[in-house]
Amino acid sequence: MKIAIAGAGYIAAIHATAIQHAGAEVAAVVEKYPDKAEEFARRFGIPQQYRTVEELVEAGGVDALVIGTPNFLHAPQAICALTAGLPVMVEKPMAMDAAEGQRMADASTESGAILMVAHCWRFDADVLWLKQHAHQLGTIHRTKGYGVHTHWGPAGWFTRKDLAGGGALADMGIHALDTARFLLGDPQPVSVYARIATHYGSYDVDDTGILVVNWDNAAVSYIESGWWQPHSDGPEAATQLYGDQGFGQCFPTLLELPDRVRETVDTLRAPYPFPREEHCPQAMYDAQMNYFIGCVEHGDTPIPGWREGLVNMKIVDAAYESSRSGNVAVIQ
Ligand SMILES: NC(=O)c1ccc[n+]([C@@H]2O[C@H](COP(=O)([O-])OP(=O)(O)OC[C@H]3O[C@@H](n4cnc5c(N)ncnc54)[C@H](O)[C@@H]3O)[C@@H](O)[C@H]2O)c1
Repeated sequence: MKIAIAGAGYIAAIHATAIQHAGAEVAAVVEKYPDKAEEFARRFGIPQQYRTVEELVEAGGVDALVIGTPNFLHAPQAICALTAGLPVMVEKPMAMDAAEGQRMADASTESGAILMVAHCWRFDADVLWLKQHAHQLGTIHRTKGYGVHTHWGPAGWFTRKDLAGGGALADMGIHALDTARFLLGDPQPVSVYARIATHYGSYDVDDTGILVVNWDNAAVSYIESGWWQPHSDGPEAATQLYGDQGFGQCFPTLLELPDRVRETVDTLRAPYPFPREEHCPQAMYDAQMNYFIGCVEHGDTPIPGWREGLVNMKIVDAAYESSRSGNVAVIQ
């Protein structure tokens, strides 16, 4: 399979590595800056370079496109490729907002080309272990999750609203949000109350946030997002599940199951060490890429696809609205 990548930055290198690990070919790079394109092409042995997705589509010769560019480019690049019938995997956040996400979904539906959204934590071994064992917790009534950078935050386009759409919530909180929703079995959001602010830098996006999301299965998720925070109760996508039969969490990943006979708690640990060597391991992105390639090969609808990406965008939009108004925002 011949796969093109849009962008030649941080995540593009991880995706290029994943494509090669899958035995597929990184056939083209779409990058605005020629020097970056050249270096990236040399590093991964990529034969073709383009400045725009329009040029890529015009030239043809690839089976799929992976988009790892700044958020404002996700919708135009994805819509261009999808309209030409090219399957796409786009980075999170899917778009600048839900309206853009909807246009991407429409382009996928109209052309029949699949659109996957790279909510990578759904492919993480610890998260999958917790999901596999979550039924032992009974009904999960609430979750707590974290998408927080401590003593660190990004710069450049990430901190510009016109290029990123949002700040730490759109960048990091969305990982916690999607992981909570995945572990809950993808319920629909009903409403959100949020307090989102900027306290750690001079930019026009947020770097501090808390969200309370109400789901249609009556569960509630508490989410923290942030950059430059002095503390986080867990690393990226760390999620705690409170069920009526027990407690579970990832990072470190375990279940605590009260033993009512002995009045003790049995702890069942995932077979993975913590702290991990790398919190965002290449293996997670490899699994994600293998799944995308399988969906392209078999024409399967990916999960996470545009439906999951769009739900996350609706929650993010509603959270910003709630924080602005001070009221609970209802999600349609
Ligand atoms: N899932 C994850 O773990 C994860 C991690 C990091 C980033 N991301 C997401 O990946 C995306 C990219 O983030 P990044 O950290 O790789 O950013 P980055 O700044 O490192 O890379 C972006 C690349 O896009 C290029 N670019 C800019 N304008 C372009 C244009 N008009 N056409 C083509 N290329 C252009 C830049 O030159 C750069 O090479 C973002 O949406 C981000 O949220 C996801």
